[in-house]
Amino acid sequence: MPVKKLPLLVANWKMNLSVKESVVLSKNLCEAYIKNKFQERLSLVLCPTFPALSGVAEVIKKKNVSLGAQDVFWKTQGPYTGEVSPRVLVEIGVEYVIIGHSERRQFLKETDAMIQQKLLASLSEGLKPILCVGETFAERQSGQKDLVIARQVSSALNGVVLTPESHLIIAYEPVWVIGSGQAVEPREASETALVIYQTMLDFFSPKALKSQVSIIYGGSVDPTNIHYFVGQGLLSGVLVGGASLEDKRFINLMNKL
Ligand code: 13P
Repeated sequence: MPVKKLPLLVANWKMNLSVKESVVLSKNLCEAYIKNKFQERLSLVLCPTFPALSGVAEVIKKKNVSLGAQDVFWKTQGPYTGEVSPRVLVEIGVEYVIIGHSERRQFLKETDAMIQQKLLASLSEGLKPILCVGETFAERQSGQKDLVIARQVSSALNGVVLTPESHLIIAYEPVWVIGSGQAVEPREASETALVIYQTMLDFFSPKALKSQVSIIYGGSVDPTNIHYFVGQGLLSGVLVGGASLEDKRFINLMNKL
């Protein structure tokens, strides 16, 4: 399958919106997406809360917009109360899945080992994982950033084999920047993308990296800074939280691409 070369714009609505609000927002975004022919400039992925996935799937049908989930379990079926199977996500039209977001690492105590299992399960069901990696402020201050990033990437990729159909996205999200209103310096994001790329070379060929893997940036992306993070060096997209929650602001952001 040919790879979309367009910049990837992923909206992570986290737990901020109700089902109704998610459906209304996706309707408004789809309308603007079509009207402004954004599909010629970017690939849009909407990641609502689990209960809103089906409603949003209905809205985006045949509109060239993709659906993403914010998490997934590492087994496809069985006695795992409260968990969601990657197979069920595919069944309802989900194409992408965020894995290892720092909020889950922090609040749900997700470990590198759990994240690796989720990645394997998602890829084997044909989902496109968006693996989040990023350092905390303390790790950055103590000069550990590159080590932390390399460790998170390599432990997640342990045992991963890309088939010709697989797609993988790595999102660099510095934990200390998320929700702060202040993105990292574009140069720092580019340099970290290089660390991610170099770490991945231990796992995949340069050819596979070029055609099947993307590196994107997340953390206080807004309409004023998005252009610094798309198409710069190895970065080919963004993962947006706060600035994706309101239609006018997010449409403005898409306009900047
Ligand atoms: P903000 O854009 O609100 O900083 O959130 C980033 C994020 O965590 C996306 O996954």
